[in-house]
Amino acid sequence: MPVTMDTLVSLSKRRGFVFQSSEIYGGTGSVWDYGPLGVELKQNIKRLWWRDFVQSRADMVGLDASILMHPMVWTASGHVDKFTDPMVDCHECRHRFRADHVDARPWTHYCPATKGNKFVIPAGEACGHCGARRTLCPECGKGELTAPRQFNLMFKTFMGPVEDEAALTYLRPETAQAMFVNFDNVLQSMRLKLPFGIAQAGRSFRNEITPGNFIFRTREFEQMEIEDFVNPHDTVEGRPADEWWHDRWIADCMAWFRRYGLREENLRLREHEKAELAHYAKRTVDIDYLFPIGWSELMGIANRSDYDLKQHSKFSGKSLTYFDEERKEHIVPFVVEPAAGVDRALLAFLADAYQEEEVRGEKRVVLRFHPELAPVKVAVLPLLKKREEIVRTAHGIRAALSRHFRVVYDDTAAIGRLYRRQDEVGTPYCVTVDVQTVGDRDKGESGDGRVTIRDRDSMQQVRVPEGELLPVFRGLLEDGDWGAVVARFGGVTADAGRSREGDP
Ligand code: GAP
Repeated sequence: MPVTMDTLVSLSKRRGFVFQSSEIYGGTGSVWDYGPLGVELKQNIKRLWWRDFVQSRADMVGLDASILMHPMVWTASGHVDKFTDPMVDCHECRHRFRADHVDARPWTHYCPATKGNKFVIPAGEACGHCGARRTLCPECGKGELTAPRQFNLMFKTFMGPVEDEAALTYLRPETAQAMFVNFDNVLQSMRLKLPFGIAQAGRSFRNEITPGNFIFRTREFEQMEIEDFVNPHDTVEGRPADEWWHDRWIADCMAWFRRYGLREENLRLREHEKAELAHYAKRTVDIDYLFPIGWSELMGIANRSDYDLKQHSKFSGKSLTYFDEERKEHIVPFVVEPAAGVDRALLAFLADAYQEEEVRGEKRVVLRFHPELAPVKVAVLPLLKKREEIVRTAHGIRAALSRHFRVVYDDTAAIGRLYRRQDEVGTPYCVTVDVQTVGDRDKGESGDGRVTIRDRDSMQQVRVPEGELLPVFRGLLEDGDWGAVVARFGGVTADAGRSREGDP
């Protein structure tokens, strides 16, 4: 059964992934706060994206630009004139909708065929009693909607102490423009040759008319964007370089999401129709994900041609060209833009990882995160918290491993419950320390120095010398090859799931 959004929202709150912003004041549905586990997951997403698309590529450099930019940037980019959505209002309840989203909502209907009884009818369907279709406000079912008006999505603010037109500027609605306006700075300072890319991850702001669906559409969010500049006169494998690179980026981005766990059947590509293309785009392809709300955009990969560099050159009066040594001419590069949302990626990874299963007659909720994404990599759990040596050894293991990964110590319940808690937040491995590890001084028995590693997915356990933990986890967190650990150390057992002290 696919996971519902309600389940994810509730798990996120209960286990410290995502909280509603300003909840004690009633909250807002348009911005969210990442809790202790959410912030780890989000950082892991950004870190892996940076590692795979920036750090490991010779043709990519990074940037961290300001959120507030010169207001002309947004005039040149077309955002002041064109970054709008059509908006309609209800005359009765004053509810505001995006005109193109109204029909995608369930609608309230007071049915004349049933003495005016109120029904909430699924989106796009007619009333089963009177056959009517929605014409009024979907929220209250009573008011007429206004004609659509264009609403600019940029948040306005003022730079400096005077709040007048001259001081007006915007919170950036995308990170992309900073890469265009810094094109020449980056080119000259890094002495780059085409093709090369500039990457940036950071916050963007959009005053969405109808934010919602948890962290899917919010007014403040994070993007990970790449502007990959190519010479439009070049060819690769007989094709124009911009078109070749566009397809290459589509394939690479799909492969990236698959690599970190999104299932093939939950991913698809969607080509934008001509009429739907943004004003700057030659071609755009979205990677859609099957979110709990249905197929929706996870990220977009656009061929923005030379639109942005030419616009900024025109408005700033500065040349934003590249000298093509081979052809001895100045050219304006084309740009391919893979643009992903961090929050949407997080929602997709969370939804895809969520599984409920039955284990020994009990429900087990498990987040099967890729180990590199998991917020906590290892949980160290003492089997008996009353045995000082066990507790000391467990704390020591946590401290030693924490220099390398996010590791937690927990002794607040019996072992079966501690395992379930870690499963529910996606911790790939647990380490338990027991009497066998440390020995029993009263009986004159010395310990074997081995601890138990428990694998989240198979629930198998293997005993490993304490000194081997770091190299073993390094390997596991990189390739997740539990089979190799089993083959090396042997003696695999199933997790008992209940402590010797007995589950509370
Ligand atoms: N520079 C191009 C650009 O910004 P976009 O399709 O508008 O393109 C890119 O945004 C990605 O940013 C989207 O695919 C989505 O993942 C994320 N995104 C956009 N608006 C968002 C919002 N209101 N809330 C959360 N994520 C959003």
